[in-house]
Amino acid sequence: MRLGVLLSGRGSNFEAIANSIAQGRLDAEIAVVISNRPSAGGLEIARQRGIPLRVIPSAGLNREAWDRLAIEELQTHGVELVCLAGFMRLLSAGFIRAFSGRILNIHPSLLPAFPGLDAQKQALDYGVKIAGCTVHYVDEALDSGPILLQSAVPVFDDDTVDTLSARILAQEHSIYSRAIQAIVEGRVTLEGRTVRIRESEK
Ligand code: GRF
Repeated sequence: MRLGVLLSGRGSNFEAIANSIAQGRLDAEIAVVISNRPSAGGLEIARQRGIPLRVIPSAGLNREAWDRLAIEELQTHGVELVCLAGFMRLLSAGFIRAFSGRILNIHPSLLPAFPGLDAQKQALDYGVKIAGCTVHYVDEALDSGPILLQSAVPVFDDDTVDTLSARILAQEHSIYSRAIQAIVEGRVTLEGRTVRIRESEK
């Protein structure tokens, strides 16, 4: 399956997906990485690995215009599944339609708790005892589509945003590839907003 990764920053989730592919745990190929920020760290990772990359700066472009360029790039590279990985923009209705049911995101909270920015800080401020991350399909609203996988981590009394974020991030790196592989193997079905994933026969 040909993946298109959209990112805006560091790119550790993208790197984890690339590692899963390199290690044979994920039967996919990253066809292109697209960043809306020229300074995104993820671009350097793509460069080092020889993965095709494109920068489409979003500064000064409206949402529809940026999305049209991104759709074109993804289609040019034959992308079948779009993986948002630290992509800090909402997608337009046109984009969602173009890749309907084929867009995933990773979010650092147990949705529907703490959507939006600074999810780990939101969780700490709220005082939850369990935090985590979610891989979900993307629809037009923020962090709201059907949930594929979640992973929980404990919150400790002495946690800071950094320590909690690092604990969650380790789980992000594991469940994102697992969710993609389930789709690749055709083990995922959607009933209403409930996703069912059959056990792998591998
Ligand atoms: C991750 O915490 C992800 O859940 C969120 O943005 C962060 C991106 O990190 N959507 P990275 O760029 O993948 O390292």
